[in-house]
This record gives sequence, C-alpha cells and structure tokens, in this order.
Amino acid sequence: MCGIVGYIGDKQAVPVLMDGLRRLEYRGYDSAGIAVLDNGSLHESKSVGKLSILENMLKDHPLSGKVGIGHTRWATHGRPSDDNAHPHSDCKHEIAVVHNGIIENYMKLKKMLVAEGHVFVSETDTEVLAHLIEKYYEDNLLSAVRHALQNVEGSFAIGVISIREPGCIVAARRYSPLVLGLGEGENILASDIPAFLPYTKEAMLINDDELVLITKDKAEISTLSGEPVERESFQVLWDAKMAEKGGYKHFMLKEIFEQPQVVADTLTGRLTDDNRISLAETGFQDELWKKINKVFIVACGTAYHAGMVGKYLIEEIARLPVEVDLASEFRYRNPIVDENSLVIAISQSGETADTLAAAKEAKSKGAKLLSICNVMGSSLTRESDGVLYTRAGIEVGVAATKTFIAQLIALYLISYYAGHLRGNVPEADLNAFCSEIRRIPRYIDQILVSHDEIKNLAKLFQKKTDFLYLGRNIQYPIALEGALKLKEISYIHAEGYAAGEMKHGPIALIDENVPVLAIAPRGPNYDKIISNIKEVKARDAESIGVVSDGDNEAQHHFDHIFTVPGTSYLLSPILMTVPLQLLAYYIADKKGTDVDQPRNLAKSVTVE
Ligand code: M6R
Repeated sequence: MCGIVGYIGDKQAVPVLMDGLRRLEYRGYDSAGIAVLDNGSLHESKSVGKLSILENMLKDHPLSGKVGIGHTRWATHGRPSDDNAHPHSDCKHEIAVVHNGIIENYMKLKKMLVAEGHVFVSETDTEVLAHLIEKYYEDNLLSAVRHALQNVEGSFAIGVISIREPGCIVAARRYSPLVLGLGEGENILASDIPAFLPYTKEAMLINDDELVLITKDKAEISTLSGEPVERESFQVLWDAKMAEKGGYKHFMLKEIFEQPQVVADTLTGRLTDDNRISLAETGFQDELWKKINKVFIVACGTAYHAGMVGKYLIEEIARLPVEVDLASEFRYRNPIVDENSLVIAISQSGETADTLAAAKEAKSKGAKLLSICNVMGSSLTRESDGVLYTRAGIEVGVAATKTFIAQLIALYLISYYAGHLRGNVPEADLNAFCSEIRRIPRYIDQILVSHDEIKNLAKLFQKKTDFLYLGRNIQYPIALEGALKLKEISYIHAEGYAAGEMKHGPIALIDENVPVLAIAPRGPNYDKIISNIKEVKARDAESIGVVSDGDNEAQHHFDHIFTVPGTSYLLSPILMTVPLQLLAYYIADKKGTDVDQPRNLAKSVTVE
C-alpha cells in the first residue's frame, strides 16, 4: 500500500504534489518520489526514506513543471531503496508511472518484456507497467495504458504521464483507492481525499476497472474496455484543518482527545428524542433483521478487537449467535454462511485487502453484507448491501484510536436495534441504554481531564520491556487492544490475555520485571479478576488496575489504580479503552518513538 498523487493545472506542480504526499504519508513512508513534465522532458527526484529527504533533495535541485505525479511507498515487491522508489520509467525515459497495489503476474510480464529487449532497473512489480505502456504506445497514452492494463492481473491505482502528451495525466484503478479533486483550471488525483483538500472540495470517485483522462479542465472516465462513463462529482464535507494536529504534539493524542465528539457524532441522528434507534440509512428492512439467524464479523487489527466486543454485545443483547473472525483467516476456512447470515465487516479505511476479500467471500455465499466504515465511498462500502458510517473524521495516526471507539458505538447501536426488533430488549432496557450512551462523551471527557495521572504512570513504566494486559468477558478484547496499542507505538512487547487463561501458560513469564495491567470494572467477574491479580502479585509483578469510580477496594489489590466513571457493565469497554490508549501514547512519547508513523506499519493495508 502506497499513496499516489498527480497534478495538472496552472500552478507549479511540485509544491502541490509534495503537500499531497505529506497528507498521504500515513499510507507508507519507505521511500518517496515525484516526476514532472517540463519543456518536453521528464524530470524526477526520488529517494529511499521519509518525505523529508525528498524535500531536502528538491531544495538543492528544484524541479519545475505544471504536470506531475508523486508517490509515497510502503514496500511490497523490492526492498526500500532509491531504485525501487517510484515513479518508474520506460526504457526511453519518456513515460513515468506511480502505482499503489500489486501486479500479481509481473514476473511473467517482466520475462516477456525483457525478452523483447526492455531494460529494467528496479525489483518492483510496478516497473512492468511503464514498459508495457511503452510497448503499446503508438500515438495515444490513454489507449496505451488501457492496453497495458488489459494484460495485468492484480490491484492498482496508477497515475501516468508522458513527454509526448504533456497536457494530460492518465489514471486508473482496480481494488486500490483513487479519487479526483476537481479544481478551477486544475485537477488533482490522489489515493485519498485529504491530499487535495487545500485546493478543492469537489471530488469524484473512480471505480474498479476504470481509467480517467485528466487535463487541467476536465476528467473523462472510461471503462477498461473503452466505454465512456458519466460520473457525478460530490462536495467533501471534511475540512483540511481536521487533518491537522490542532496544537497537540501528535495526531494520535489529538485523535484520543477528539473521542467525546466522535461518540456524539456517531450517535447523531441514530438516537431519536424518544429513545429509539434508527438505522434506516443502512437500507436494511426490519424483515431482514428478523430473518437473520447468524452473524459473522470480519475485520483486522483494532477493528477485529471491536468485532470481538461486538460478539459479546450481539449475543448478549440481540441473542443472535455470532462468529468473529480475523478477516485474513475467514475465507480460508470455508465458513458455513448462507442467505440467512449477516456479515458485518468492520474497517476504518474500507480499503483493507483482507477485510474486503472476506466480505466478498461471504457475499458470494449469499450473506447480506453490512459494513461499519469510516471512509465514504471506500471500496468496502461499495461492496456492501448496507453501511453504518462511523463519524470519526480523518484519522491520521497509524494507531487507531477514535475510530475504534466509533466502531464500538456502531456495534452498540446494531445490537440494541436488532435486539429490540427481535423482541429481546424490553422498552425499559432500550430506554436505559439510550440515556446512558448519551452520557458517554461526558464520561470520556472526565477521563481525559485526568490524563496527567496516566502520564505519571507512563514515567514509571517507560523502561519496561514486557507488559501483560488482562481482561475477562467483554473486557478481554480491550486487553488485546491495550496491548496492541502499546506494542505498535512504543515497540514494547505486550500481550493481552483472557485473565482466566493466564494460569495456563503466561504466568510463567511473570516476575518483578513484567507489569500486569488488569481491566477491572465493577460487575460480573470482578472477584475473579482480583484473584488473578493476587496470583501475579504473589509472583512479584507490579500491578495496575483500571477500575470503576467508587471502587474502594481496588487500592488494596493494585499497586497503581486509574479510575474511570462508573457506567453499565456492558458500556464500560468504551471507557476502559481510553486510559489504555493514553498509557500507550505517553510511554511511546517518553521513549521518543515516531508515534504517528511507527516503524514497519501503514495506516491502510491494501495488500494481502
Ligand atoms: O482500516 P482498517 O480498520 O481495516 O485497518 C485494520 C488494521 O490494519 C488496523 O486496525 C491496524 O491494526 C491499526 N494499526 C491498529 O492501530
């Protein structure tokens, strides 16, 4: 997965491309590069490493031109290196290509092209595209790109320029995101909307197997087989400022602090004044909700942890059996799914390849597909029979925070909606839920106000190399999520465990160097988790309890406690998550890691 951008218009292309790449850097940052057309020549600059290196190169050797393409890379084929950095060119250095995706048959194509005399300089799959376009180029770049793509298997979002047609960019997509920003006398292509938001809010989506010929005044879409396509543009509601840090040291911290608003936004219009839930936007009829006899949840990473919470909720509240699967495993286990199954795919980006593939697999078996997604118009939403959008806004930090909370909110809404409709949730319970979930933003605010307490805890634990997170029942996925947050941004080894499982193995790890954090709100299993803490304390581990307000016993059981406002046990996972996000953040910040762009990770994983 990578980010691509392209500019054509009256401005100098380089600043627009660099600005766009900066906003796309969350998609990968192994290398970056740009190519521009100027006075009948193709000029490029590219380098391994983050965008700042390219920026410095451009300061020393500026490029000019009003047409160009750019790329920020997350390596799949070929290690991060200068040679493997995009754009890639043909033999004559007349064509330049940027690509996000994977050309699956590139070895076969490369062999053919090499046999025909083409000379390759990189190890990438992308370079075959440049040479294929060269091979088919007679007098029309669009036709050459179309012809080349007809020979390609795999996924792509590409931008192509040629010195022979300096008045256009050709772009195309299959299974990788591509969107156009339509400006006044200028047009911009990008992997994601924030790349062009400072220049225009008018956007147009490109679908799978479509090409687009972009000039400074128009964008003409056609299919891979050559039929013209009419497409309406739409106005983007996000503000460019939403993608800025807003005074916080890191996007992640800003995004954690946005969570009260995100909860409120995700509830807006879905909770009525008379305490009902409306999910009309999904387009799912009541009959459908009644007909379902099984739910499957598929997702990856943090979204999978939300899905695990969803299993507890849907089973408990709607009394529907739920299977929750890592999307990358789902399709390889021949799941028993039919037309009475509902598949819920959860994805912040809506572009995660594994989640998309799992969703498609379930659909092909006849299931109805409902997605919980944060990005409008993303690939997953377009595959889905219905979508419940999380309204978290752009999440720039690679570590998912506010989108996780928003996914949980969506799952509560689904559970209570289906439960009420199916006669499993009495009016009084629905009323109580609607009233309590409206208070959640205020409760999160109260936690955030105490962030200094967590900062102080972080000071005590920043030097640790291992951590154990324990939770039971609906808190178990929160233990997994807390551990994931810590490992991905602080690089500290952390494991989440179902507390009852600890004695079956992980207890062997415990000694005075391994702190144990327990998620222990008042409610069912409280005594059991306290017993587990006694077991770890007996082995000299330092313990941290995240507990409910008013729990006067907790101080006797834990070495350190952090208190969150009391709420219903079922809603408590939302509140329990926030201190764990803050703890991971402050530990990582103290260690000085690259919090928003941790090593080896990318925001959106669009390859299998
Ligand atoms: O965009 P998605 O929600 O589908 O992404 C899924 C995972 O890649 C994502 O949650 C990942 O685990 C994050 N780095 C977690 O912080």
